[in-house]
This record gives sequence, C-alpha cells and structure tokens, in this order.
Amino acid sequence: MAWMTSILKLTCLLFATTHLFTIPISAQSSPAPYLRTPSSRQLSWHRLEFYAFLHFGPNTFTNEEWGRSQTLPDIFAPTSLDIDQWARTFSDAGMAGMILTAKHHDGMALWDTNTTTYKIGNGKWAKDRVGKGLDADVVRMAAQSAKKFGLKFGVYLSPWDIHRDPAMPKTQLSGTAFDEPQIFGNSSPGDYNEFYSQQLTELVTMQLGDGEKVELFEIWLDGASGSNTVQTFDWAKFRDIIRLHQPDAIMWGHQGVDARWVGNEDGATVVTNWHTISRTQDQTRYNEAQLQTGVRDGTYWTPAEADARLRSGWFWHAGERPKMADALMDMYLKSVGRSVNLLLDVPPDTSGQIPKEDLDVLLKFKAQRDAFFGLRINPSSLIANASSVREGNYKLYGPLNVLDSEGSTYWAMNDNEKTGSLVVTLNSLHTIEAFIVQEHIALGQRIGGYAIDAFVDGAWKTIVTGTSIGYKRIDRPSTKVKTNGVRLRITQANAAPLIHTFQVLGMKH
Ligand SMILES: *[C@@H]1O[C@H](CO)[C@@H](O)[C@H](O)[C@H]1NC(C)=O
Ligand SMILES: *[C@@H]1O[C@H](CO)[C@@H](O)[C@H](O)[C@H]1NC(C)=O
Repeated sequence: MAWMTSILKLTCLLFATTHLFTIPISAQSSPAPYLRTPSSRQLSWHRLEFYAFLHFGPNTFTNEEWGRSQTLPDIFAPTSLDIDQWARTFSDAGMAGMILTAKHHDGMALWDTNTTTYKIGNGKWAKDRVGKGLDADVVRMAAQSAKKFGLKFGVYLSPWDIHRDPAMPKTQLSGTAFDEPQIFGNSSPGDYNEFYSQQLTELVTMQLGDGEKVELFEIWLDGASGSNTVQTFDWAKFRDIIRLHQPDAIMWGHQGVDARWVGNEDGATVVTNWHTISRTQDQTRYNEAQLQTGVRDGTYWTPAEADARLRSGWFWHAGERPKMADALMDMYLKSVGRSVNLLLDVPPDTSGQIPKEDLDVLLKFKAQRDAFFGLRINPSSLIANASSVREGNYKLYGPLNVLDSEGSTYWAMNDNEKTGSLVVTLNSLHTIEAFIVQEHIALGQRIGGYAIDAFVDGAWKTIVTGTSIGYKRIDRPSTKVKTNGVRLRITQANAAPLIHTFQVLGMKH
C-alpha cells in the first residue's frame, strides 16, 4: 500500500500549496467564453461523432466514381431497394446518422426535383414504382427510414454539376429530353447559383409522406471539381437558404461555414487539431495540411470532419472489399479520438442494399468499440483531486466533475491559472489501456499542451504527451503500465483550462 500513501501525500502536497495561496477573487463567477465558441448547432454536431455517408446513384450501376452525365435515368434500377436495411445497419453499428448523395457530380437527382429533367424520377424504375402507388423519391424514402430508426439525416448536393457544365461533353444525351442548358460557369448564359439555390430549397423544405418536414442535421456541399470551368458559388446565399429552413443543420463546405474538410479522405488527422480557422468559403483555400491542423485562436469556429471510405471507392463496385474492423478502429482513434467527426461511406450495391460483408464488418467494429469503451474504470470507484479549484467552489468547479461524462459540468481553476493538474486515484491496480479527455468547448478551445502520468514504483512516469484537446481526445499510451494512480497535467493553455471529462480505461488485476 506504499503507492497509495505516496499518491495521497502527493495530492496533499498539491493541495497544501494551493489552499494556502489561492485567494478567492470575488469578481469571478462562471468562466467567460474564450474567443470563438461553437454555436448550439455545432455543439450538438460535435456530439454525433460518427455517422454514415451513402454514395448511391447512376455511378452504382455504371461502375464509375465520377460519371460523365452520359447515361439516361433508366440506368438507375436497383433490383431490391431496401432503405430500411441501410438505416437498421447504421443504427445497429452505433452510427448517429446518415448523409445521402441527393445529387453527385453527374447531376442526376435522386429526389423528385422540378429543377431538371435529369432525375431518377424520369427513369423506368421510378415510373414503375409510381405506377404501383409506391414512392420513388429516394431522398424522401431515406429520410423516412432514418427517422424510423432514430438516425439523423443529411444530404449531399454537389455544387459542381457535370450535367450543366459546358466543358463536359455529353454526346449520349444530345437530342433527348435530358439535353439541358449549360448554365454552369461564370461565363455561361443562365444563373447556376439560382439553379443550385432552387435545388437546395427543394431539399431543405422536403416533406415526409405525412406532410412532416424532413429535418436535416448536415448539408454537404462538396468542394471537388474536375473541370476548368470557373464558377463562383454564392455561398452566402446557400447559407441563408439553409439557415431559413433548417436552422439546426450544419453547412459543410471545404472550409465552412459550420464544418470543414479535414484535408484528406483517409478518416484520420494529425495529432494537433484546432476547431477554429481564419478564412471563410469565399476566401483563398487552405491547403490540405492547414485544413488538418486548423488555426489556433482562429476567427471562426469551423471544426473538421473526416470523410472516409469503407471500401476503396465511394460508390459500390463489384470486386472491392470492405476494410477490416481493426483498420476502422485505427481510423476512429485518429479521427474521433482527435476531436474530428468521422463520416464513413458505406455504399449500397446494385440491389439497393448494403452488402452483407460490409454490414458484418460494421457490426464487428461496433463490438470492438464497445469492448474498448467497456474498459472504462467505474467512475464511482475513483477519487479525483485537483491542484486548485476555481474560487474553492468544489460543487460547481471541483475535480469530481470530470468523472461523469454526462451533463456539462467541468473542473475549473481561477482565471489566472493556466496550468494545473488533476490526480485520479484508482481503488486497485490496473493496466492502463487509454484515456479520454474532453475540454468544455462550449466556452472555447483553450488547451495547447498536456501530459498524463502514471504513478509507478513510487514516482510519476509520463506515459502520454499531447498538444490540443478540444471536444474529445482519446490516447492509448504506447507503454503499458500497471498503476493505481494517474495524473492529468495541463502544461499549456491560452486561458484557464476547463476539463469536462477525464476517463481512465484499464484492466483490473
Ligand atoms: C416544373 O414544374 C412545372 C409546373 O408543374 C412544369 O411545367 C415544368 O415542366 C417542371 N420543370 C421540370 C424541369 O421538371
Ligand atoms: C481528494 O478527493 C476526495 C473526493 O474525491 C476527498 O474526499 C479527499 O479529501 C481529497 N483529498 C485531498 C488531499 O484533498
């Protein structure tokens, strides 16, 4: 029990100094926000963490990734579409929502739009369904299934539209009803921004069969283009349309307004990640490395989302295989574990369902996550002591607040204290597997350096060091230690740190 006594001595020492010298400042009350803070829609979005992307459309049937708008709507003909199967799979896999490609670059719309004849509704599959009194609006059907399975729903609407881009020849469509005006591009006749705004308006005002409005959690405005046609997008107008009809929806863009690209399509980011950047969608594009890291103390709260693929393509292709659960776990720890939401693409096949092997691996990955998070040491068996507590107010700002991951409580120090530490004493020896740390980001991202120590052989041994924390950080120490005491040290912060959660994952001996 020598280790126990030593830890207590250490915490007593920490306490002795702070109790003697901490002078309550009466003007202090709750900590003031630090620079940029998330909007309430962003705060809710951070908590979703992991959700599905669905690339589905003509490319599914032509074995393409970027179709050239050369196929007629008849091409879209799933043999046994089952959208409930998608939603059930994602719900079982512990994903929070799903985002569907309502229109990919090829321009073919999956919903019953009035803006173009180039929509699946003008194909045989949809006409047959409508003839039988069935819905053929795949976007609405997906919204309905998402709701049924308790998932959030979002749409992808490609800004680049090959179907309307004069630089992209569409010889197969000439002379058909799908040969439409080439309005894409600043120097093209017509107003593409107006056209896009109409498409967006249709999607954000879409209703379910019973007349209830479809609620969107995210709208994905892809930054990709494979053409030299220059089109200046009216992002402010698109934002206003989204805000007016879907005030809770995140507008995802290359760099904003509400969430940014993480700079790669691997589902991973570098260790330092800031939720803020200092440019908008209308300004020069950040490069990929800049998007990964973000800008500390930046002008806008524009957190990153990592889009990644379960298979090698975004659309389904025969012969491709899903990644293994281990690879997905690694991806998850390098995205969600680094404060970045993970958007994992799971493409339906030509039957209109998610292939069984993909479904199986998602469930295996879910079991792996459950086992990992199941290692969390029961918080009621822990003791937490802090180097100091804001105004000595243990109830509001005390260290015990970090042990519960629910609610919005946090451990805080006085405003002038930017470094400090928190000791967590375990009631028995554990092999440490991981730590989860969260800042109380509602009041801004403050921390730029931290370390986690374990009490081993009578001394503190540093087993994790890091830079940013933000919404959530998951660290797995590279060396395995057995201990019954760990310590989180905030080594650098630009404002008094606010720690929402400090979880310890480990195996008991
Ligand atoms: C839009 O709706 C109007 C009125 O119903 C119709 O005349 C027009 O052809 C439609 N346009 C497209 C592109 O579907
Ligand atoms: C440490 O925190 C516990 C509550 O978790 C408290 O009972 C104990 O007095 C604290 N120890 C010190 C040295 O302040």
